[in-house]
Amino acid sequence: MSIRHFITLNSLSRKELESIINRALELKEQIKHKKYTTTLNNRVLGMIFEKSSTRTRVSFETGMAQLGGHAIYLAPTGTQIGRGEPLKDTARVLSKMVDCIMVRTFEHEKLEEFTNYSDVPVINGLSDSFHPCQLLADLLTYTEARGSIENKKVVWLGDGNNMCHSYMNAARIFNFELVISCPKDFVPASEIYELSKENTSIEHDPFKAVEKADLVITDVWASMGQESEQKDRKEKFIKYQVNSEIMACAKSNALFMHCLPAHRDEEVTEEILEGQQSVVWEEAGNRLHSSKALLEFLLN
Ligand code: CP
Ligand code: NVA
Repeated sequence: MSIRHFITLNSLSRKELESIINRALELKEQIKHKKYTTTLNNRVLGMIFEKSSTRTRVSFETGMAQLGGHAIYLAPTGTQIGRGEPLKDTARVLSKMVDCIMVRTFEHEKLEEFTNYSDVPVINGLSDSFHPCQLLADLLTYTEARGSIENKKVVWLGDGNNMCHSYMNAARIFNFELVISCPKDFVPASEIYELSKENTSIEHDPFKAVEKADLVITDVWASMGQESEQKDRKEKFIKYQVNSEIMACAKSNALFMHCLPAHRDEEVTEEILEGQQSVVWEEAGNRLHSSKALLEFLLN
């Protein structure tokens, strides 16, 4: 059988993604009873991080340990990657030693190139264009809290960034309505929009966008790599802040999600982040269970 990678949500079918979410629920339940299934005994995951991480690193590292395997953290400094060894060389070398490789990098094309040279499954741990692992956790969180996301109204407020792109993929695959509300100069990439346009629309007025929403999501206004634009973006995005006025336009039982890290009182107010509609801590914790289910899927 050919190797399966997880580069975007489109790498897997809806059925496969649903099986991962269901397995994550099972694994989560087992942990509550202190039961650990060691389905990845002796298997090793290599993790290349060219950007910072807390959740992604800890979820994959803990996940591998709980499943009986091991994970190796490869930082830009202290490895030859940081000294310029090409990713395509690293891909071939690591493929001879580890069973799976997770990569967090900048340009999505670098990840695609890496995948072409890898003999083992590659996981996108975030690129400038997509963050599919976070979507697994978000879908798991929504399913646990409210059941199926199909036909629900999901509203993305803020930057048309990597997370937004992955939500666009999810809208098409899981058939929910996605409304994106962003400043005119920060719309998502047109080629990704084209693919999901039957499920996705853009509404620049945030109050109109959130009307009757079942789920409201946001993310930082300046992603990793865009730090120099932080101040300028803060001024341009202010009307897209998720606050109590915005949430009041959504359904009364609407949920709020954020992949974290959050910038309090920028893209979301403290009140909403810590409020009753927020499921961000559950969402972050679900990174562990969804990462484990993904690893099992790709490795077994
Ligand atoms: N949400 C997320 O990917 O967090 P980290 O950057 O901490 O991994
Ligand atoms: N859009 C954010 C997500 C962080 C998990 C970034 O790329 O920095």
